[in-house]
Amino acid sequence: MSEKIWSASALARTIHEYEIRWTQYDWPIDWQAVFGRPGPLRLEIGFGNGSFLAEQAEKHPEANYIGVDISWSSVSRLLKRLHKSNLTNGRAAELPGKLALQTLFPQSSLDEIVINHPDPWAKDKRFTKVIIQPEFVRLLASRLQPGARVTIATDHVKYAARIVRVLENQQDIRSCFDTTFVHSLPGRTPTKYEQKFLDVGQPIYYFVWEKPEQCQIDLPTSISPFGDMPNILFKVPDNAEVSLEFEPCTICESHEGLDYVIKFLRAYQQTDHNNQLIEVLAIEGEFTQQFGIAILQREGECLLKLAQVGHPRPTHGVKRAVWHIGKLLRQQNPELEIHSNCVEPFD
Ligand SMILES: C[S@@+](CC[C@H](N)C(=O)[O-])C[C@H]1O[C@@H](n2cnc3c(N)ncnc32)[C@H](O)[C@@H]1O
Repeated sequence: MSEKIWSASALARTIHEYEIRWTQYDWPIDWQAVFGRPGPLRLEIGFGNGSFLAEQAEKHPEANYIGVDISWSSVSRLLKRLHKSNLTNGRAAELPGKLALQTLFPQSSLDEIVINHPDPWAKDKRFTKVIIQPEFVRLLASRLQPGARVTIATDHVKYAARIVRVLENQQDIRSCFDTTFVHSLPGRTPTKYEQKFLDVGQPIYYFVWEKPEQCQIDLPTSISPFGDMPNILFKVPDNAEVSLEFEPCTICESHEGLDYVIKFLRAYQQTDHNNQLIEVLAIEGEFTQQFGIAILQREGECLLKLAQVGHPRPTHGVKRAVWHIGKLLRQQNPELEIHSNCVEPFD
């Protein structure tokens, strides 16, 4: 793709048109509404420069394509590509593939999944951090429609051996060939990464596996549904001044089989008021949110609520963070009376 200089407004329009701001949707996403039409839903994980996805979208105008990648520079390249080719059936989102499968796609919703040259981690000799793991394959299979396929390509011989072991030791999907992998796929256009290896005569390992028609896997989305925004309102007798003595700390909890890590990072004080803002990181499985909890004081009241910073989703971890700050505030200021608490009781 020739690099054109993008004006800020052209880029903003392109982002608005093609990027999926996934944290701002209800999950799983209603993809038919996103694309404004029904159609086979196809996902590429880790699309790099986006050329493969854009080409597929052009070749198959009847299908709807979503690409997810953890790199914003990859996402912005795909957005520009989709815009330049005027493709209305492609979208891109910046998030890890596992989280995308866990949250954004209903069970049995995908017509195809493609993972081209996933990153092997150079120092991870036992391949414990790579994306192709047994539980990932089960998750992936749960999101495929019966009869739908996943294609994984790698040039990395040790990673290929690892993929062989993972795929051969699971029962949810099966190879479309007599062999576990093949070295050529007729009609395939190589990705940018793949071409580099083909140019030096290095073999590529293609795994094309499908979910059998009768296969059913029950793996619902793993982030708890969002409820109300977590607010706690205290009455402050005699208009006393409320303050929170803050020390950074980390709290680890688990709830319904999911581990939560809540890190209270730092506190900011508003100069001309007693208001404070606590900066928090909530890590819930694969999902991380960085946000602010505001402690706002006004006549006879002290309100704890989520600040606009980071636009957090009110997940269980976020609610627990508000609860912990509320509890600490009350311990340090015993005169506070709870007026309303839509998180959970303190005692
Ligand atoms: C080796 S590059 C391959 C790019 C492209 N698929 C190709 O074949 O040319 C790996 C890509 O995967 C992305 N990536 C790495 N880990 C990821 C993850 N967990 N979820 C989604 N994308 C990921 C990287 O940002 C990068 O764009």
